[in-house]
Amino acid sequence: MCAPERAAIESDEQAYLEPFAIQAFAALDAVRDLKGLDACRVELLGKSGIVTRLLKDAGTLTVAERPIRAALRNRLKEKVTAELEVLRARLEEAALTARLSAERLDISAPTRPEPAGMIHPISRTMEEIVAIFGAMGFALKEGPDIEDDWTNFGALNIPAHHPARAMMDTFYLNASIGNRPAVLRTHTSPVQIRTMLAWAKAQASGTEPAPIRIIVPGRTFRADHDATHSPMFHQTEGLVIGRDITLAHLKGCLIDFLRAFFNEPDLPVRFRASYFPFTEPSMEVDIGWSRKTGEIGQGSDWLEILGSGMVHPNVLANCGIDPRNFQGFAFGVGIERITMLKYGIPDLRLFYESDVRWLRHYGFSPLAQANLHEGI
Ligand code: PHE
Repeated sequence: MCAPERAAIESDEQAYLEPFAIQAFAALDAVRDLKGLDACRVELLGKSGIVTRLLKDAGTLTVAERPIRAALRNRLKEKVTAELEVLRARLEEAALTARLSAERLDISAPTRPEPAGMIHPISRTMEEIVAIFGAMGFALKEGPDIEDDWTNFGALNIPAHHPARAMMDTFYLNASIGNRPAVLRTHTSPVQIRTMLAWAKAQASGTEPAPIRIIVPGRTFRADHDATHSPMFHQTEGLVIGRDITLAHLKGCLIDFLRAFFNEPDLPVRFRASYFPFTEPSMEVDIGWSRKTGEIGQGSDWLEILGSGMVHPNVLANCGIDPRNFQGFAFGVGIERITMLKYGIPDLRLFYESDVRWLRHYGFSPLAQANLHEGI
């Protein structure tokens, strides 16, 4: 076919297609939203759509004209398809913008009242203790609730069959750790052992680590249940080990702690000889109070608050620390007891009942939490 003939067919085809093109672009112009766009796509490119039909009809053309006319019909299809895409992008963007502005958060609206959470008094007391000892340079340390019986008893110089084991009414688990029976820890003292073992190991591998100064809040367990005992309760352990730690340090730290905790600068504190297998000498620490009024720091009665002592040489040796070069002190304080005393809480069992009315009364604002920056 020569060029003029070809040009004639092309212009004839263009004239033929023009009304279809006008119709198609008018339909596209009329689209206002995504639903309309879909309908328009079907109208133009669907199975029996206007453009689709034009392409189908090309099959009936003569072999000579078909490639020329079909190419123009294909170009129309491409233009329509491209326009549909452009429209879709524009409409989707508009729909998103509309949704975003409809869902905009009005931050000037008054807040919905939310019930304020409260800090449980047990948590509060543990925070306070950590804050007080933290200010003295103690590091926070924690240990697991489940221990093997060597770490909970043996290493602490409480041999098998020692009455102290029965005293503690231990929960034995039907399991073992290594080949040692597993127990729910009866006190936080096993964290002393974990800390000293790690310290001795670090020391054996080269330079001597800094002296130990740790404060260890946590859960403890004994088979005991009445108005002043719960099978799960809380203690906080303290441990200081160094080359020159003496009983004077123990006394100074504990007196400072008790006066800060009870907010009584002149609180009378008494150290009374006692016995623990893991300390020697051992001392019970009492504070002055009035049995009659319950006032702390008043009256002439004494109230037992915590257990303490110089770490027993056997305990140091059990952890690989040479008791001829190192010594220190440890103490353990029952959290429930001092919390009840400080805040006048009469029954221990209420600590664990999760009664929100109780918590609202005895709890603390989260914003008033004790910490090292604010003090208590
Ligand atoms: N572990 C002892 C107890 O639970 C308390 C204690 C800790 C006493 C450390 C002395 C030194 O009763």
